[in-house]
Amino acid sequence: MCGIFGCVGSSDCVGEVFNGLSFLEYRGYDSSGIAALSSDSIHLVKKKGRVAALRSALFSSSLSGSPSIGHTRWATHGAPDDSNAHPFLSDDSSFALVHNGVIENYLELKKFLSSYGFSFSSETDSEVIVNLIQYFYNGDTLLALSETVKRLKGSFALAVISSYDKDKIFFAKKDNPLVLGLNNGVGYVCSDYPGLSSRVDKCVALDDGTLGFISPYDIALFDFSLSPLQPVFTHVIKDDNLSIGHYEHFMRKEIDEIPEAVSRALNSYYMSFPASVFDGINRIVFIGCGTALHAGLVAKRLLRELSPSLDCYAESSGEFVFSDFPVNGTLFVPVSQSGETADTLSAVKKIKSSGGKILAVCNVPSSSIVRESDNVILTSAGTEIAVASTKAYNCQLAVLTAFCLDAAKYFSSDENIPFIDSALCELLAIPSKLKVVISCENLVSLLAEKYSSAQSVFYLGRGLDFCVACEGSLKLKEISYVHSEAYPAGELKHGTLALIENGVLVIAVITQRLLLDKMITCLAEVKSRGAKIIAVSPFSDDKLSALSDHIVAIPAVCDILTPIVSVVPTQLFAYFSALYRGCDIDKPRNLAKSVTVE
Ligand code: G6P
Repeated sequence: MCGIFGCVGSSDCVGEVFNGLSFLEYRGYDSSGIAALSSDSIHLVKKKGRVAALRSALFSSSLSGSPSIGHTRWATHGAPDDSNAHPFLSDDSSFALVHNGVIENYLELKKFLSSYGFSFSSETDSEVIVNLIQYFYNGDTLLALSETVKRLKGSFALAVISSYDKDKIFFAKKDNPLVLGLNNGVGYVCSDYPGLSSRVDKCVALDDGTLGFISPYDIALFDFSLSPLQPVFTHVIKDDNLSIGHYEHFMRKEIDEIPEAVSRALNSYYMSFPASVFDGINRIVFIGCGTALHAGLVAKRLLRELSPSLDCYAESSGEFVFSDFPVNGTLFVPVSQSGETADTLSAVKKIKSSGGKILAVCNVPSSSIVRESDNVILTSAGTEIAVASTKAYNCQLAVLTAFCLDAAKYFSSDENIPFIDSALCELLAIPSKLKVVISCENLVSLLAEKYSSAQSVFYLGRGLDFCVACEGSLKLKEISYVHSEAYPAGELKHGTLALIENGVLVIAVITQRLLLDKMITCLAEVKSRGAKIIAVSPFSDDKLSALSDHIVAIPAVCDILTPIVSVVPTQLFAYFSALYRGCDIDKPRNLAKSVTVE
């Protein structure tokens, strides 16, 4: 949510900042801008819309210089337009600032600064920060920054350049991510680790309550009271697969990457899983947002089937902070692709402060959630760029399934062991089933085209299939803007059936042999009210064929592994629906990949 990229070196850095912002665009994309210091003064260019719009504005300006900072925005305060785009200049133009986060006391600060004659050109909370720096400046930018951050309530990652400091980018961090790196006489400031991974070998992920400056060869780090701190460098895991290649969209590319990503995820799980996490545990709580929450829902259901003696829950992170799970005997499992989602990070901090045991499932090494957690399973899906998560979700499902099977082994009686062992073996073979299921793309594309004018789509399933229905429905909403709902199939008749009429599309996920007859009854109910039915199923069954308008056949796998496979046709359906509806697939409206505000 908002991307910050800054660069300081011996020559012009504007091009490098522009490239950095282009990569970070998944964090927000309603406006963007760059400021640079040149000949003792700061100039900036900013533009409403995508980073591509900034490119043309940069061409017609002669913006150049070093240091330089840039920002790509996801609006919180103020409409997405040129005036609210970052960077902001201080009143006297000696400082420029980019900000990610929310300043809760900005109105008080604005009033205070206005009483000293400061004027404001935007509706944002961010502009007060740069003016506060000017207000406190008395020959020492670091001191002014320290005085400023002490007065801010809320969350912030900041990068600041000053006309008084020729080769420094100042920064500060609280509750929003910021990462630093150095390479051969160039210093970088960036919102996230993937944004730096192609530029540096080592990086410093800042802790909350730190500030400082970076110059071409050096990082100076302090706490908010200016006591010096030692930067801790970690090695960067390189991802060479960041280009879109021959694909039209990253989402489609990332779906093709699922089989390999899942195989890496399982390797990573078996290399690093700390079996001791089960010691003393009688309750497991999965926490996440959006797609990650849906992975938690699958895991909760798996554990309830496999280890009935364990008490299991899956909670939305935003709701979790209001709940009161006992800490003793509980293992908390936050699930997050980015490792930066503010709601999930708050939940992790709450658990940590009450002494709870945490095992994070996360895709980004060195992310905030990883650094806050006692134990981590890295999903190793590789960098995911499309806002709608696909391969990272399949990887979450794969490692959570392995985790649930290991838990079952730990907690269950001996007679279950042969079943668990055979499921574990089948899990290792799941990447080959994933390759097969992706080949349903032609059929799914035809179906998406046929139903591309649908106003509303209902996803139905029971048990594990309901969890997959939830994810399929979310994916469709996210990228094709079609209204859609997921229902446990038995629940439909208790109200929502009233919405089923001639031509309404129902997508039914049917993978559990024991639930087949009950699903067929439900399909008959919607069919008789005129629904069109697409079934996603491994079964060839006469009644199912008679009721369904279309069947997307998926490879058979043992019941508990089906979610990893059956979600793929729903991901493809969302993708092609968005394509035929002419939507911006990788950057859907109003959304961002990493939501770093609560
Ligand atoms: C945002 C994204 C969703 C994502 C959710 C959780 O809302 O738009 O696609 O599922 O965040 O993200 P995380 O990085 O924590 O998995």
